[in-house]
Amino acid sequence: MSKVTQVAHPLILHKLAFIRNKNTGSKDFRELVEEVSMLMAYEVTRDLQMEEVEIETPICKTKCKMLAGKKMAIVPILRAGLGMVDGMLKLIPAAKVGHIGLYRDEETLQPVEYFCKLPQDIAERDVIVVDPMLATGGSAADAITLLKKKGAKNIRLMCLISSPEGVKAVMNAHPDVDIYLASIDEKLNEHGYIVPGLGDAGDRLFGTK
Ligand code: PRP
Ligand code: URA
Repeated sequence: MSKVTQVAHPLILHKLAFIRNKNTGSKDFRELVEEVSMLMAYEVTRDLQMEEVEIETPICKTKCKMLAGKKMAIVPILRAGLGMVDGMLKLIPAAKVGHIGLYRDEETLQPVEYFCKLPQDIAERDVIVVDPMLATGGSAADAITLLKKKGAKNIRLMCLISSPEGVKAVMNAHPDVDIYLASIDEKLNEHGYIVPGLGDAGDRLFGTK
């Protein structure tokens, strides 16, 4: 069963209030999404494997812990997931980045795939899928299915805002995938938007409409 972690740190919730605010423009929205992603990366990577290494300080030899060298990949779901990549890379600079392009058909709300480019060794990497919004859960579930078809085994999902329905959909489709969120909001509206949410994440990041 998926573990669902709500990363409700005061700094994250404070920044999320600005992100949700309709008066926050694209420049600030982008910067805040990057900052929150960086803060969440701290929690998403909490259980990374470590190994003991011996080093020498200016005083003496000592044993320290370092990351065990397991390789990571960050996979944003285009477009809005792109806004989370730089924040993640600030904490995990050696990660490779794959891209999965999906958009929601406005009528059916079903995800439509239009792009997939992944690191060639994705099967050996710990993968973090990033997307600010988990609404019906269709896009995230399809992206994870695609990653599994390409051989990825260890996958986590990190989103800023989710609906309760989206969390359930991903848990049902992929019980092996742990989910990290800053907020689980109230519900989806009749257009498949998260309430209260933040509106259309892609449009707000890139200034489109
Ligand atoms: C948004 C969002 C997610 C998806 C969530 O993308 O970034 O990918 O909707 O909805 P779901 O959980 O119901 O599938 P959108 O399809 O608007 O594309 P965009 O990022 O290119 O704007
Ligand atoms: N996609 C968004 O960008 N926002 C929502 O509320 C739902 C899907």
